[in-house]
Amino acid sequence: MRTHKCGELTTQHLGQAVALCGWVHRRRDHGGVIFIDLRDRAGLVQVVFDPDAPGSFAIAESVRSEYVLRIEGIVRERPEGTHNANMVTGAVEVLAKGIEVLNESETPPFPLESEIEVNEETRLRYRYIDLRRSVMMQNMKVRRDVTRHLRRYLDDHEFFEIETPYLTKATPEGARDYIVPSRTHQNSFFALPQSPQLYKQLLMIAGMDRYYQVVRCFRDEDLRADRQPEFTQLDIETSFMDERQIMAIMEDMIRGLFADIINVDLGSPFPVISYDEALRRYGSDRPDLRVPLELVDIAEEMKDVDFKVFSGPAFDPNGRVAALRLPSGADLSRKEIDDLARFVGIYGAKGLAYIKVNDLAAGSEGLQSPIVKYVPDEVWTKVMEKVAAQNGDLIFFGADKAAIVNEAMGALRVKLGVDRNLLVGDWKPVWVVDFPMFAWDDKAQRYSAIHHPFTAPSCSVEALVANPGQALSRAYDLVLNGTEVGGGSIRINRTAMQKTVFDILGIGHEEAREKFGFLLDALKYGAPPHGGIAFGLDRLVMLMTGESSIREVIAFPKTQTAACPLFNAPAQVSEEQLKELGIRLRKPSVKVDKED
Ligand code: AMO
Ligand code: AMP
Repeated sequence: MRTHKCGELTTQHLGQAVALCGWVHRRRDHGGVIFIDLRDRAGLVQVVFDPDAPGSFAIAESVRSEYVLRIEGIVRERPEGTHNANMVTGAVEVLAKGIEVLNESETPPFPLESEIEVNEETRLRYRYIDLRRSVMMQNMKVRRDVTRHLRRYLDDHEFFEIETPYLTKATPEGARDYIVPSRTHQNSFFALPQSPQLYKQLLMIAGMDRYYQVVRCFRDEDLRADRQPEFTQLDIETSFMDERQIMAIMEDMIRGLFADIINVDLGSPFPVISYDEALRRYGSDRPDLRVPLELVDIAEEMKDVDFKVFSGPAFDPNGRVAALRLPSGADLSRKEIDDLARFVGIYGAKGLAYIKVNDLAAGSEGLQSPIVKYVPDEVWTKVMEKVAAQNGDLIFFGADKAAIVNEAMGALRVKLGVDRNLLVGDWKPVWVVDFPMFAWDDKAQRYSAIHHPFTAPSCSVEALVANPGQALSRAYDLVLNGTEVGGGSIRINRTAMQKTVFDILGIGHEEAREKFGFLLDALKYGAPPHGGIAFGLDRLVMLMTGESSIREVIAFPKTQTAACPLFNAPAQVSEEQLKELGIRLRKPSVKVDKED
């Protein structure tokens, strides 16, 4: 139907007869001349209709936004002074000789500009129109380029792309499962995979050596800007490689990806920091290293002060007292500081103590804060030295359980960095390693796995049993600008160790057999040393396109409440279907009024 794409015409095509197909992006009538910006996937081109061809002119007059047209015409240079440097096709236009309306369109529910003020529900309900916007086209293109690049890299490095089932059994990655009832096995359910973790380990046991898959994962968890209930991983597993080797090859792949697709040099090698150090300095295991602010521990200094807010957590083995220095922050107003206190409150902080450093030479006289009086001068002197305070700084303090201080002060650190334009550099990757194996879950009164239960510890079975809380794992996360883009580990490949870990997690012998018997069996049949990683593809593309939500780089994402407004999913099913599945609903289901 067409000879060229709209968005690719340039002065190279001058004088050529072309046939184009596309959508009416905009139509302007200019006293006897009609201009139509015709749009297709490649972009826009200006088409001109003049009254010399009355048939075409009349049709052009009748078309509206988003009509689908086929145009025949001649490419010519735009008159002097009317070139548009912002468009690839800005030096040319097509003088129309013929026009055919391939389809009409109702007025679209929102304009197709790059910046639109329209709620997300509407955008998702009319996603097929939303996706016509050039930003969305561009995002889809980057996504295509990214997967193509990654596939090519892995193909070149002897990885097999292998598909694994979606109808499967629970795979624990810390979220709830999406379950699917079975008709042929009444009262039984499949679970959609939270990741292909166990399949890829079985593939290593099967001798596949190097595996990858661009794969959908399903997790029923609280949604955020960088979390969707179904999302895509680049999932990878290898045999006979240790963590350094796996990290090295993955780093090479990601470095090449950024260089190739967005012309960014991520540097080499990526820095590596331990989980402990990340929490200590940045309050987070996914630190944004573009932010030049750091937490400083002052528990030692605050142990003996008569201010319970500080001395309490300073004495608590699970407590933390941390200071965060904001250089030249003393200009913050009372209201701004109150807002920040409210901000850290979201993360559970009970307050946000602060000191304005007016004049260091004047001792505590030179420090301005409601809390100065609670702490002896010599302690303040030590604290000011420890945080390297300068006149004009603002020092914030967090004191509580370490987990709360880390969350709150870690988030404050990033917020101050962004709000005050302190970011240094555009791209800061970092590997985080030496994670603990387990975290103690106070509520459930048991350990939970920090990575997943198949991650190998860096110690022996005996050492693990003796002190599970201290054991480190052979896991690694790749963090980019404060977003966890990938995570993996060396796996357990011996039955005894796997059983021990299940034990510590409170998964009893029977439950372990029932849930993971197949894995425990497989480990007995020559399981090679193996390990891997999975990257969040949506997150990588989000970062590479500069978007702030992965929903912008997924063609058909779910809303914040895990629904699809376009298909109106999830939805009720017929009584007949339920009967076939042997399912009776417990409550009369609430009828949702649907708009037309
Ligand atoms: P993990 O659970 O860390 O590891 O997931 C790997 C990566 O997937 C991305 N990710 C998500 N992206 C969007 N929405 C979500 N809900 C979501 N959850 C995770 C993150 C994360 O780094 N099987 C292991 C990997 C392994 O050990 O090899 C796993 O799934 O970018
Ligand atoms: P209070 O004595 O509770 O009024 O607190 C005095 C100052 O300490 C106020 O500025 C509070 O914001 C701050 N504060 C209270 N609790 C904490 C905490 N857990 N961490 C840091 N600062 C706190």
